[in-house]
Amino acid sequence: MTDQSALHPDPALSEILVSHAEISARVQQLGQEIANDYAGRIPLLIGVLKGGAIFTTDLARAIDLPVELDFMAVSSYGSSTRTSGVVRIIKDLDDDIEGRDVIIVEDIVDSGLTLRYLRKTLLARNPASLEFCSLLVREEQQADLDGLVKYAGFRLPQVWVVGYGLDVGQRYRNLRDIWAYDRSANS
Ligand code: IMP
Ligand code: MG
Repeated sequence: MTDQSALHPDPALSEILVSHAEISARVQQLGQEIANDYAGRIPLLIGVLKGGAIFTTDLARAIDLPVELDFMAVSSYGSSTRTSGVVRIIKDLDDDIEGRDVIIVEDIVDSGLTLRYLRKTLLARNPASLEFCSLLVREEQQADLDGLVKYAGFRLPQVWVVGYGLDVGQRYRNLRDIWAYDRSANS
């Protein structure tokens, strides 16, 4: 997955972990898988803002079915409160999801806190079905999380990454590739 030849003038961007070519090939595969699984239905893709926005729009165009889009923004409090499971809705969906085939589209599933919160909150609204599609999933995440992410793009080690939607302090979301971010380089 690594392209060592790529260099970025920003010293915090040390190496490309997933190139844009790898991303677009995988997005096409995921789109085909979803199109097969949902044939005859109209899935509702729910992009999780802001990180999932770029993946959501590319994925939507890779699904050869009529799809609908909605977006939701959530914020999880700092890592100290992770175990308490505090996630807050910043922007809710525009429309009702009752009876809909919902696919939640995420940039990355890290601890799984956001996923579990969204799952509980949205299942309470009685969709016909609810699945998760995440571009990235942490490699060492507990096995029980695996069952919850039906469509996973790439498995990633425990390094902070930016690009293709993912940020540090709102920056780097527009990079085409996914880069390892070295926190010490810009300080
Ligand atoms: P979780 O609730 O711990 O699974 O956190 C998921 C959220 O944390 C993601 O949707 C991202 O917004 C953020 N996140 C986790 N790891 C990274 C990373 O390496 N880069 C950028 N954002 C990340
Ligand atoms: Mg996110």
